[in-house]
Amino acid sequence: MAILVLGGAGYIGSHTVYELIDAGRDVVVADNLLTGFKEAVHPKARFYQLDIRDRGALDTLFQAENIEGVIHFAASSQVGESMSNPLKYYDNNLYGTMVLLQSMVAHGVDKIVFSSTAATYGEPESVPILETDRTQPTNCYGETKLSMEHMMSWVSKAHGLRYVALRYFNACGAHASGKIGEAHNPETHLIPLILQVPNGQREKISVFGDDYPTPDGTCIRDYIHVTDLAQAHILALNYLMKGGDNNVFNLGNGVGFSVNEVIEVARAVTGHPIPAEVSPRRAGDPAQLIASSEKAKSVLGWKPQYDDLNTIVSSAWNWHKAHPHGYEK
Ligand code: UFG
Repeated sequence: MAILVLGGAGYIGSHTVYELIDAGRDVVVADNLLTGFKEAVHPKARFYQLDIRDRGALDTLFQAENIEGVIHFAASSQVGESMSNPLKYYDNNLYGTMVLLQSMVAHGVDKIVFSSTAATYGEPESVPILETDRTQPTNCYGETKLSMEHMMSWVSKAHGLRYVALRYFNACGAHASGKIGEAHNPETHLIPLILQVPNGQREKISVFGDDYPTPDGTCIRDYIHVTDLAQAHILALNYLMKGGDNNVFNLGNGVGFSVNEVIEVARAVTGHPIPAEVSPRRAGDPAQLIASSEKAKSVLGWKPQYDDLNTIVSSAWNWHKAHPHGYEK
């Protein structure tokens, strides 16, 4: 039986496919390639180019393949865009998930692991953030991801489907093989933007606000390596296969780094001075997001391997240095 990875040509999806195949799993990837890249799909995975909002295409796939469980990454994920174009997020993320669940229920596929986000919490009441903390998203992206969690919960009650929602903090880094890495167009994430400076594609990095209530005034985030995230999906799938009940897990390192600290680490890793300039705050950025991942460690047995920011940024740099334009030749 095979595992279906929706959005398996995207950043976290492609890394998860590599880990699944390394673990000996049979993998089917489906992606509409709007933000994903065909080159990121592992050559041993069977690839379907389809949009999850296309019920007919999903039904055809479920009929053709013997799918044991689904890992669902297929969603729009830019916070800023979700504020200027919220309906795109309702369409792709919520409507897309609704169609997917309809098709899964119709075909008796009853296990799903899916990408959720720290953005479901909004401005945290305290850090580190626990899964039981208040969820009050401050952007439409987080709102749609939280609604996806709720949709799974209701569908579970009605149809017996079981799910695990993984709430990622700040995904970063690249595969150790150097074959796949982070590639977004446009790029909005801090580490790849910083690395565009030593790569000669950007003169300086903008620091979005230095008047936050943090020790150096810049925002603090919990950076977690993409391969560690990928491993968590495999553990979550195994948990469901062993009969585990619906669950939600935070995935982070539990250590926060400020924007200035990340820039400093990138200077050390690349040997480039990386000029930085303070610019206005970006709307909707919480001052501090740090995960408690104790639950993922105790329930799933998750053991993140990359707990050092230097190693994480080095792995990102290896990829960006060799692929300054991502997957474009
Ligand atoms: N930042 C800068 N300059 C830049 C880009 C980012 O200072 O040029 C800052 C941001 O203001 C933020 C930090 O760097 O404080 C990290 O920003 P990212 O855009 O890399 O990541 P976010 O924390 O905003 O977003 C990530 C995920 C989202 C998810 C969110 C959860 O990318 O999908 O975490 O809060 F929703």
